[in-house]
Amino acid sequence: DRMDKPAANLPTSLDQLYTLLEQQTDAPMEKFSDRLVRGIGPDHADLMIIGEQPGDQEDREGRPFVGPAGQLLDRVFEETGIDRQQTFLTNAVKRFKYTQRGKRRLHETPNVGEINYYRWWIEQEIRLVDPRLVVALGATAARSLTGKPVKISRHRGEILSGADGRSILITVHPSYLLRIPDEQGRQVEYAKFVRDLQLANQFVR
Ligand code: URA
Repeated sequence: DRMDKPAANLPTSLDQLYTLLEQQTDAPMEKFSDRLVRGIGPDHADLMIIGEQPGDQEDREGRPFVGPAGQLLDRVFEETGIDRQQTFLTNAVKRFKYTQRGKRRLHETPNVGEINYYRWWIEQEIRLVDPRLVVALGATAARSLTGKPVKISRHRGEILSGADGRSILITVHPSYLLRIPDEQGRQVEYAKFVRDLQLANQFVR
């Protein structure tokens, strides 16, 4: 757990933070893409949304939430009135973890050690962006932000308190919605996700 890194010389900008992270030689690299996908959005934002890790497309383009999960998110932004340009989007784990299957790169869920490695970095990212609300999309982000396992089905829609007392809204990951096989179940879960993001949008001034 890297939360206890020395407080001296804390990064003073996001660019400095990401550059420093890119230079770390002890980051988990086995099974990970070399490419670090930086967060995107204004230097300061009322709303910060945190996913799991970049996917295949995000890794190729170097930007978070440009693939299928991002497209679903865009649709929900439109439905809830959340302005993507005013929102800071990033990931708990900053590189794509995958296994190669022929030409395809299949997503692998990061383990606890890998999540914990990035915890100090995400804490710094949150400190710099200084949002009024952080939205945790799914179990990896929730674990990263709270430091403990969070059962999403039980806690979704709740606002928990993070390390520094910051408000963290727990919700599902958009990829989960995309994987629900039956249409009706998917619509029910989608509606709940929209409700969670409507709540999130109330924190935007
Ligand atoms: N899923 C995530 O959690 N983050 C991304 O950037 C893309 C897909």
